[in-house]
Amino acid sequence: MDVNEVKIHDHDLVPHKGFKLINGTHDPDDVDQIYNLETRDSDVFVVTYPKSGTIWMQQILLLLEAKGDLTAISKHLNGDLVPWIEVYGQRQMFITAPSPRMRVSHLPFQFMPSALSQKGKVIYVARNPKDVLVSYFYFHKVANMLETPTDFNDFFEKFMRGDVFGSSWFEHIKTWYSHKDDINMLFITYEEMIQDLHSAVERIALFLGKELTDEELADVVKHSTFNNMKNIPQANYEQVSSELLSHHRGRFMRKGTIGDWKSHFTVAQNEMFDKVFHGEMAGIPLFFVWGIKDIA
Ligand code: A3P
Repeated sequence: MDVNEVKIHDHDLVPHKGFKLINGTHDPDDVDQIYNLETRDSDVFVVTYPKSGTIWMQQILLLLEAKGDLTAISKHLNGDLVPWIEVYGQRQMFITAPSPRMRVSHLPFQFMPSALSQKGKVIYVARNPKDVLVSYFYFHKVANMLETPTDFNDFFEKFMRGDVFGSSWFEHIKTWYSHKDDINMLFITYEEMIQDLHSAVERIALFLGKELTDEELADVVKHSTFNNMKNIPQANYEQVSSELLSHHRGRFMRKGTIGDWKSHFTVAQNEMFDKVFHGEMAGIPLFFVWGIKDIA
């Protein structure tokens, strides 16, 4: 099933075993079967909480595979070439797909194939949650399978309650991070990629065992910068029908920076967020960059 076949069903979130799925996009019984999938050594799963740079990592993986040749990947949507394993119909296609099988997922750790502890690799991309929240707010305006927020505060409260697809950002990152040594995982942040994309791409290539020339690596980096990706129709899902995405309400490649939350959060929202963040993340050795000036 390609991205255009996803059905719109009343924006309902479907609670399933402590995680919220999207009605019409995910089927809970099918999602349950993902746990039993056999994996191969060459399998790569990119795992993210929504709006953390999924499409960016899809682009990098595809370009690494194509040795930096943009024309080799430009006929299809990133989401069709590196599909979501949890989208209805994709699990079945995964079973018979040729290697290397590259997939993305927003699922929490406990739903993923248990065989990943033996075979296959995971790249977890984390992004500072204040920017995730803002990016997700705008995406809710564009994506017709998600409920349009009445205003920013309405969405802020839903996000803090985990009342969105992806559920709690805090739970997502904590469960994945706590299993980082149980599977072959590269943990990387959106902010590291913004700060030094070339080094990030080198780390990813090394993790995947990809050998590229310096020139090929430079091409991967060039075609995965925000400024170049924002002009690529597939990276903006332009081919996706207006029934699914209201393109006139915003672009998928929106700002691509660190710290946009500063022009959206009120002082009170920020204080509340910090309080929750410090409580939830106490004892977790993860540090986030909250502003672009912090990496200059
Ligand atoms: P913004 O809405 O803050 O701009 P996802 O693919 O997980 O939905 O994430 C989308 C977010 O990643 C958007 O954030 C998008 O602009 C950003 N993004 C995608 N490609 C990027 C790139 N090459 N550089 C920086 N940000 C990128």
